[in-house]
Amino acid sequence: RGILGEVWDDEMSSSMLGNRLKKVVQNYQAMNKYGVKVSGPGGVSSRPKLSGPKLLCQMKIQVDVSTLTSDFQPFSSLPWASQLPLKQLTSNLGPYKSCAVVTSAGSMRSSGLGKEIDSHDAVLRFNAAPTSGYENDVGSKTTIRLVNSQVMASEAHRFLSSSLYSSGTLVAWDPAPFSADLTQWFNRTDYPIFTQYQRYRMLHPMQPFYILHPRFEWQVWQRIQDNMAEPIQKNPPSSGLLGTVMMMSLCEVVHVYEFLPSRRKTELCHYYQRFFDAACTLGAYHPLLYEKNLVKRMNQGPERDIYTHGRITLPGFNTLNC
Ligand code: C5P
Repeated sequence: RGILGEVWDDEMSSSMLGNRLKKVVQNYQAMNKYGVKVSGPGGVSSRPKLSGPKLLCQMKIQVDVSTLTSDFQPFSSLPWASQLPLKQLTSNLGPYKSCAVVTSAGSMRSSGLGKEIDSHDAVLRFNAAPTSGYENDVGSKTTIRLVNSQVMASEAHRFLSSSLYSSGTLVAWDPAPFSADLTQWFNRTDYPIFTQYQRYRMLHPMQPFYILHPRFEWQVWQRIQDNMAEPIQKNPPSSGLLGTVMMMSLCEVVHVYEFLPSRRKTELCHYYQRFFDAACTLGAYHPLLYEKNLVKRMNQGPERDIYTHGRITLPGFNTLNC
């Protein structure tokens, strides 16, 4: 296989990590901040390894990409309920023919993928990832931006005032209790997602802005755990995987860039920051290592695409006959 042996192996395990990261991952595997209840057989060693098409169908059938609407309790009885959308994200957006998911990995640097990315009907970006000054590598189109509650709440990111967030549709998420009970979550968010949401909507009332239902993040988490041979971190998946699954429900075909690192793989955390940490690519808080195993198994594109372009090809859920 020569140089292609360098691409992500779909059986990566925490035992392959360096000592520092291995410890961090083990700590999160033991910690259970969100009250995760692991169901099903504990004997994961007997788990059958599912084929790509089977995994894709599991994802389509067992994950519901839903968002909060103004009629959901407890929000419907709050004074700001009308700031929430009336309809689901999936009924208001798309369907798109082709979509690009642009991860923020350092390996996007010097990729020259900008034109290819912009040629898609819709482009998803994450958190504080800029296009300005990086157009040649990441493109300039932003159709949807998925932001976590930490970015929404941090002073440094100036979420309420920065023009970075003002184009396209915004989608927010927050690590919620595993129960995905909306009242429990509302009373105990990880970061103040709802106060920031209300402030943002007051300042930018015309921009579409959705909040992911917490059930979604844990349904995706369950798909990862059920298909791995070891216990994964009991924390929600990264924005990267949540956004990828979200786009699979809006698009006919989804290309994901640098989620599985190309030949440009680097410890540079983000293409837009001078900060180095292997945890950004391999995971610490998020079960990112296992997310990547799952995406590798679902990939329908050639191995060579990963190596040269960091590109994964996934089918839209509507194109699958499950
Ligand atoms: O760091 P942030 O969450 O904003 O990055 C967006 C997504 O890109 C991550 O959630 C992760 O899925 C992906 N990513 C990656 N490798 C990196 C940096 C980010 O896979 N080095």
